[in-house]
Amino acid sequence: MAIQWYPGHMHKASKEMKKILPQVDLIIEVLDARIPFSSQNPMLAELRGDKPCIKVLNKIDLADPELTALWQSHLEQDINVKTLTMNARHNDRIADLIALALSMVPGKVQGVKNVQTMIMGIPNVGKSTLINSLAGRQIAKTGNEPAITKMQQRIKLDKGIVLHDTPGVLWPNLENPHSGYRLAITGAIKETAIDNDDIALYAVEYLLDAYPDLLKQRFGLSEIPESGMDALEVIGTKRGCLRSGGRVDLERVAKIILTEIRAGTLGLISWEKPDIIEREWAEVLVVREQKAAKKAARKQRRQPQR
Ligand code: G4P
Repeated sequence: MAIQWYPGHMHKASKEMKKILPQVDLIIEVLDARIPFSSQNPMLAELRGDKPCIKVLNKIDLADPELTALWQSHLEQDINVKTLTMNARHNDRIADLIALALSMVPGKVQGVKNVQTMIMGIPNVGKSTLINSLAGRQIAKTGNEPAITKMQQRIKLDKGIVLHDTPGVLWPNLENPHSGYRLAITGAIKETAIDNDDIALYAVEYLLDAYPDLLKQRFGLSEIPESGMDALEVIGTKRGCLRSGGRVDLERVAKIILTEIRAGTLGLISWEKPDIIEREWAEVLVVREQKAAKKAARKQRRQPQR
């Protein structure tokens, strides 16, 4: 289910997050391993302070392992942050997650005081799947609500770890326009204001730069196209996405490409690197300053002249 995030929803979610965080000893933040920056919530780091946090890089079965390792060491530079890679559809790292959680909250004596944990993250990163894997049964419904649901029920896991049974659903960071594209490509945001052909063009341009051979192999291209638009045209022709008159139907080819990317049929792909994010973030800060300056100038103009 897609969520449209409005300021009201974000305000409610952040209010609930502020209320809940003091009751939680350890946060389990689920990220999409393909986009570890863009799938973060912009406020969580700030509100968390130094509270222990495990960043689960989920959907590891779709991400580029080399970049995932890079992201792990980057994310672990933050105080009290550890990372764990996972495919939440398989239960094979649950024991590791529990062991890591216990090692990060040493103050709580096992069996005497429980360690309170909560799973948080933006929609579609796999929070419910992980809760169900941890509980060993189907409890968390997949589907989302744009807020943190109240903590009514708790699930006792192994060794004194208690997990709140509803995930904290948070909003993604859209201040960086590239993040919007990456969230759309990976399927975290299903309904966007961006057209499918724009999303597919962005995806193909990135693939031509970062993973040209995967694109070539998957779509049986004889050579690597020169531009993103060329790639859409060639793939569209190969897949029979033609309008009358022989022109390529961009919307149709875009849908095919995005479906294949989301299913992982092109191979293991990650869509951002720490150094690229650093550069993009510098641009975000410039835009932020420009907006603030414009706002200040408008305010100044509105003030009565003496
Ligand atoms: P959420 O609570 O954070 O919103 O996410 P949820 O668990 O609902 O998972 C969103 C989608 O991601 C689901 O697919 C789920 O199966 C899939 N998913 C979760 N973890 C992994 C993983 O590690 N690898 C891969 N490849 N997919 C994962 P869906 O198509 O929406 O539903 P379904 O096909 O599972 O029914």
